[in-house]
Amino acid sequence: MVQVVSPTLSAKEAYTPGLPREFVAERFGIAIDDVAKLGSAENPFGASPKARAAIEGAPLKLDIYPEWSSQLLRTAIARKYGFDPSSVVCGAGETEVISFVLRAFSAPGDAVLMYEPCFPIYHIFAENENRVPVYVPMGPDFDLVVDRYIATLRAGRPKVAFITNPHSPSGRLMAEADIRRICEAAGKETLVVLDEAYIHFTETTGGIELTRDFANLIVLRTFSKAFGLAGLRIGFGIAANAELIRPLLNIKPTWNMGHAQVLGGVAAIEDDEHVRKTVKLIVDMRAYVAERLAGLNRFRMVPGSRSNFFLLEVLDPTLDSTKVFDELLRRGVIVKDGSVSFRGLGDRYLRIDVSLQKHMDRLIWAVKDIESGISSR
Ligand SMILES: Cc1ncc(COP(=O)(O)O)c(C=O)c1O
Repeated sequence: MVQVVSPTLSAKEAYTPGLPREFVAERFGIAIDDVAKLGSAENPFGASPKARAAIEGAPLKLDIYPEWSSQLLRTAIARKYGFDPSSVVCGAGETEVISFVLRAFSAPGDAVLMYEPCFPIYHIFAENENRVPVYVPMGPDFDLVVDRYIATLRAGRPKVAFITNPHSPSGRLMAEADIRRICEAAGKETLVVLDEAYIHFTETTGGIELTRDFANLIVLRTFSKAFGLAGLRIGFGIAANAELIRPLLNIKPTWNMGHAQVLGGVAAIEDDEHVRKTVKLIVDMRAYVAERLAGLNRFRMVPGSRSNFFLLEVLDPTLDSTKVFDELLRRGVIVKDGSVSFRGLGDRYLRIDVSLQKHMDRLIWAVKDIESGISSR
């Protein structure tokens, strides 16, 4: 038997993805369109129509290798933000770019800083590569406690420091002044990685411009959320300091992006209409669901999310997040069980997407049904 060389890989935890609609429809006999899929933070309106048209209308040369650096897409992204193409690297989703960053800017044994809880890919990839995750605990109601983050950064001198803005799973937004403070504290020893996967939903412009002020800052974004292209797999890193991008281009698998990804991304980055429509729905529905989930006894929506998901806290001590996850599933609602999906989140929280009103109504009904079922037990 061929041996796995890395001791961390042999004992590795796999990523726990959200469940597909088909599973719940079949298991509980619910019409597939009625299943509320609220566990993967996908776009409720689907793919950017411009991206779809660009891919379907193009004579894709499927037998010919793509250009290795995705130059067309790098140029389109750079133009959008007023940067040079040398400031952009593309990956098969932001997830792939995270792996390039970790491998290029840290070595085995180096510390990598992140909040706890956080997007699990940071610590899963760090551990796969023998890096050492260092966790910054969050405050009450997922306060970002930036002073604590900076103190841990100064004490631990990590090589890479992740910030997710808005944070996942809480949706909390970090102020630009705090990002500046972190970049200053990071100095020359630490690369600050600002993951803006969900930035559109905050209705702020985000931190790309900040990279002009800080040579140690890279911003990562994805096409999976506001652009609705999670299945196509496109993400990018952008930094005014092109010296941060060069090693990422060198480390990436040579032909990591196919023709369809490049064409779809070039079209989507200019699809402002799809993004605008999506953001409006999310902002409206975030308020809609907050209003209707207020005043429950066994559950509480954690306030302060600026993203396309929020945390639901389980207050009833006879329940935990896994029991509520199962109860929601039986009622045709798929969410993320915090105890399974986010290290350190504990067993009192579920992460739930904001989506179409029809799905929000099913969620609200299901939560209230569980609440009343418990109270009449
Ligand atoms: C915080 C965060 N960053 C990055 C990603 C990855 O996005 P992609 O689909 O581009 O790999 C996700 C996906 O859920 C995420 O939650």
